[in-house]
Amino acid sequence: MNRLVIFWVLTGALTWAQKANYTGYKLLRVTPETTEQLSYLVSLSLTPDTARWPIEVNVLDFWRDPTRLGGSVDILTNYSSFLEQELFSKGMSPLVLMDDVQSFLDKRKIENADSIAAGSRFTETYHTYEEIIDYLNQLANNNSLVNVSKIGETDQSRDIVTARISSGGDDTSRPAIYLECGMHAREWIAHSTCIWIIDELTTLYGQIPEITGLVDRFDWYITPVSNPDGYVYSWLNDRLWRKNRKINPSSSCVGVDTNRNFDANFGGVGSSDVPCSDTYSGPSAFSEAESRAMRDILLSLQGRTKAVVSIHNNAQVWISPYGFTTERPADYAEMERVMTVGAAAIEATYGTEYPFGPGSEVLYVTSGTTKDYVYDTLGVVHGYTLELRNTADGFITPGTLIAPVATEAWNGIKAMANAIV
Ligand SMILES: *[C@@H]1O[C@H](CO)[C@@H](O)[C@H](O)[C@H]1NC(C)=O
Ligand SMILES: *[C@@H]1O[C@H](CO)[C@@H](O)[C@H](O)[C@H]1NC(C)=O
Ligand SMILES: *[C@@H]1O[C@H](CO)[C@@H](O)[C@H](O)[C@H]1NC(C)=O
Ligand SMILES: *[C@@H]1O[C@H](CO)[C@@H](O)[C@H](O)[C@H]1NC(C)=O
Ligand SMILES: [Zn+2]
Repeated sequence: MNRLVIFWVLTGALTWAQKANYTGYKLLRVTPETTEQLSYLVSLSLTPDTARWPIEVNVLDFWRDPTRLGGSVDILTNYSSFLEQELFSKGMSPLVLMDDVQSFLDKRKIENADSIAAGSRFTETYHTYEEIIDYLNQLANNNSLVNVSKIGETDQSRDIVTARISSGGDDTSRPAIYLECGMHAREWIAHSTCIWIIDELTTLYGQIPEITGLVDRFDWYITPVSNPDGYVYSWLNDRLWRKNRKINPSSSCVGVDTNRNFDANFGGVGSSDVPCSDTYSGPSAFSEAESRAMRDILLSLQGRTKAVVSIHNNAQVWISPYGFTTERPADYAEMERVMTVGAAAIEATYGTEYPFGPGSEVLYVTSGTTKDYVYDTLGVVHGYTLELRNTADGFITPGTLIAPVATEAWNGIKAMANAIV
């Protein structure tokens, strides 16, 4: 979910480049301990005082935003000496999580290839779009619980596919749970989490009573790659690409943030009307194939859907409506009940604490997001965004973290499903 806030030079320069190069970029972590420090970081993330900064510094990408005292903030920058000085002058001591981001990217790429070559499980390694589609098709062939269908097509003609996992066969009246991963292309561990869940539901059905019960009770609809064009671009051109790959007619900057493109206070606070921004909402609600695909499958399930969870990385929070206002939703007590159970199940796994609450309170304000749309327009009470565990690796999570991060998140989602009446 994190916003690229000082985006001009970065996105402008990378738009037409063949390959992004993050040599010299650093990932810094800083933790605000006073309200002055917190508000300084918030202002830096929203409206940086560019006049004070060297012009070439215009690259600050908040991988984890400032939201609360004591909550760490992760910032990618290629001008760390200036930023570090600034932070020191405010009494903060930034930690360098990665001193040369490109070398981390290179290392991870080799590690993943080596791990696949060494025979690691499909679910514990990262895979290309084509490999994921192939996996889903094999699963549908092999397993009578699974069907795969195309729910939309991107601008670059890639299929957006959803797996239905159900023991109900032709009975399409059962309650449904819809999960979506990867709306933000670079958040690879999110895609992996959807695949992890698909694997658990299909291999443990009939083996583990809890899973059997969940598949007998709900139809699970899971879209593991919600933004195929962006995901392919993150493999081939720029590992840290976030948006889709829409050509914006008025700009040389590419892409729309599809999680700002839903018809829920569209274009409001916490989204941008500037095409170069990483939170660009697009010209109108549902202008994007990816958001339309999700809308349309949810419309086809209307009346059946009990929960919708959009999975992102890496703020480590479980958030409910609303994003665009601090007004509490009418059903908040019920949402809070279920999030309490979900977050407790996550914490019980490995001790990872997931704060939870309305997005506008525990994260930051956002407009045009999935959770607010499914709640306000489709009447799904349990519409959430799950931001996976925050690690020192940001979006460049090693494959070795897939199992723990996906396991705890899945425990939370199972607990959520069990708690829904
Ligand atoms: C990235 O840039 C650095 C320095 O600017 C250069 O040494 C390196 O070769 C580049 N890497 C690639 C893959 O182009
Ligand atoms: C940071 O990146 C921008 C955009 O690629 C570039 O123009 C600028 O020179 C870089 N600054 C430093 C200090 O490397
Ligand atoms: C499907 O079954 C084939 C043949 O048994 C097997 O090789 C393949 O790994 C299976 N794929 C999946 C995703 O289950
Ligand atoms: C898959 O599709 C076939 C044909 O439409 C249908 O008979 C079957 O019940 C479906 N199964 C699942 C799990 O969706
Ligand atoms: Zn995200």
